Amino acid sequence: MEEKSQKAPEPVKASIQPLYASFDLKLLEPYLPHHSTPTSARSQPLFPHVTLTYAQSMDGQISLSQGTQTILSGPETKAMTHYLRTRHDAILVGAGTAIADNPGLNSRFADENGITSLEKQPRPVILDASALWMPRGDEKVFELGRKGEGKGPWWLVGSKELRDIKADGDDHTIKFISQGGSAGMQVITLKGHKDWQEILQILAREGIRSVMIEGGASVINSLLEADNQKFVSSIVVTIAPTYLGTGGVVVSPRRTGETNEARLKDVKWVPMGQDIVVAGRLEHKSLGLRSDCAEGTNDKNSHQQKPL
Ligand SMILES: NC(=O)c1ccc[n+]([C@@H]2O[C@H](COP(=O)([O-])OP(=O)(O)OC[C@H]3O[C@@H](n4cnc5c(N)ncnc54)[C@H](OP(=O)(O)O)[C@@H]3O)[C@@H](O)[C@H]2O)c1
Repeated sequence: MEEKSQKAPEPVKASIQPLYASFDLKLLEPYLPHHSTPTSARSQPLFPHVTLTYAQSMDGQISLSQGTQTILSGPETKAMTHYLRTRHDAILVGAGTAIADNPGLNSRFADENGITSLEKQPRPVILDASALWMPRGDEKVFELGRKGEGKGPWWLVGSKELRDIKADGDDHTIKFISQGGSAGMQVITLKGHKDWQEILQILAREGIRSVMIEGGASVINSLLEADNQKFVSSIVVTIAPTYLGTGGVVVSPRRTGETNEARLKDVKWVPMGQDIVVAGRLEHKSLGLRSDCAEGTNDKNSHQQKPL
């Protein structure tokens, strides 16, 4: 190929602002997935390791109102979140978060080798039972994909709902999907309605060994309900020293019995900057499928109930 006389300028990667750890990375190690086998191994676990993680205010809220992005984490806990992202194969958020926050869902964590490479970036997954997200290709997650700063997203969408959209014909989204999306976008349809077993089995089948579930409230609350607790391997919550006041989006699972809905065990409180991070595992209320889960997440005593 003929060489041009003037070299084209390097693309400006304005979105990359590296985040560095100012905490001991080992502190959270017991709560993180440990992949002992490669993705292609014969003995693939049925379910990925699930880390539930989010930031909340002192009054248990994750945003000022539904559809509003609210910054709660300080710089130290933000860096921690980006570090956790490098430790998981995928990051999952609900459609409400994808619409409200337009998140990039990549990691800007940097260590001595520099910023997280594309290979180590987690796969963004948008969970969307009702097909509300309606991607058009100009969302941040696609921008990062095109720049090679993140992987293309997987859209887990209700199959009936997707059919309805196709019938209705929103020109932009349907055109976008039919062209194969962009930057590695994949559309994966869900048969069941909010069936975590199906969702997690799909991810495992696609080679995802660990998933960090970051929100929003509807997704977190449904995973904290007794029937779904068995899917959660660990919880890492940032508590920011602020009160959002009434009317915000609250993390509080629907109570399905007479006692407390969820309780943590093996708890560690780690101060980070002005915030505190609480990490733990759930005392599972109902037992089930976790015996097939990823290494390091199976806990034989996890069903023991304790008082409030
Ligand atoms: N502070 C934090 O750490 C943090 C993190 C993330 C988000 N947020 C905030 O949270 C708010 C968004 O929360 P949200 O509750 O409105 O939205 P969300 O939980 O992000 O997403 C809700 C959507 O996810 C779908 N969904 C939930 N569980 C599902 C399941 N098991 N299977 C399939 N689909 C499922 C719901 O389907 P249906 O429509 O059928 O109900 C709904 O459309 C935003 O304001 C955002 O800024 C805060």
